[in-house]
Amino acid sequence: MTQQFEFILTSREGRVGLVQFNRPAALNALNRQLMAETISALEAFDADSEIGCMVLTGNERAFAAGADIKEMANATPAAMLDNPFIDYWDRLRKISKPVIAAVSGFALGGGCELAMACDMIVASESARFGQPEINLGVIPGAGGTQRLTLAVGKALAMEMVLNGRFLSADEAYRFGLVNRVFPVENHLEETLKLANEIAARAPVALRMAKEAVNAIFEMPLAAGLAHERRLFYMLFSTEDQKEGMEAFINKRPANWQGR
Ligand code: CAA
Repeated sequence: MTQQFEFILTSREGRVGLVQFNRPAALNALNRQLMAETISALEAFDADSEIGCMVLTGNERAFAAGADIKEMANATPAAMLDNPFIDYWDRLRKISKPVIAAVSGFALGGGCELAMACDMIVASESARFGQPEINLGVIPGAGGTQRLTLAVGKALAMEMVLNGRFLSADEAYRFGLVNRVFPVENHLEETLKLANEIAARAPVALRMAKEAVNAIFEMPLAAGLAHERRLFYMLFSTEDQKEGMEAFINKRPANWQGR
């Protein structure tokens, strides 16, 4: 990737594309440029056949403390409609390869919504999740009321959205918001290990698997089941399906081609 970014850092760790917010003085508050850079980097990794999985992270103190309040304080509804900042969260949803959020410190407001728009969340013990928009006289606007409720249920989501309750990493794990919790010291390393395991799997099946799981959030059960069935059948047209099953039968590791 040759693009130069101001507010993010990008790198490759094997078949994993790493995107790291780099606006520490503002606790990685998500301004327009940071979001544009982040989505552009993720879309470039998504289009790169050498990359199988992506990790989105911040720093020890903050994943991201939300949308940039200073940037939007004087906005009007018409200005927001004309300049659809929140579309960046929709573009994250459309990334076809798995994206893991590695969350340490604050994941608040739009930051929590960004983590929830990823496919998995790996937290460090210092992670704090919250939707404190009510304290600003607004509500979550990038999926918080919907994805949080689907993840943790109505009772807790209401408390977080109505009263700004934060969840610790341990609570987030117990309520099903995050996949794993690691000590701060090896959190990113462990997340990259998990991401590399995923990235080593059959590439086409990985994308279909992500699409199939996400279907539950987008369509009624009968349509989701039919969609899953079509994706399952479709995979029998790939070389990797033939390879995977032959490798199993012959008791050898599969050698994926991504086609
Ligand atoms: N936007 C802009 N700047 C922010 C910010 C944000 N969301 N969060 C933190 N910052 C800035 C602070 O203004 C401060 O900058 P200065 O040094 O220039 O004053 C710097 O980051 C450090 O922050 P604090 O001094 O406040 O640090 P703290 O440790 O005392 O508090 C905090 C940490 C509890 C996270 C606090 O910063 C905070 O409450 N931040 C706002 C969280 C929030 O309300 N997020 C929701 C935003 S709205 C949204 O996201 C809408 C949506 O759904 C899309």
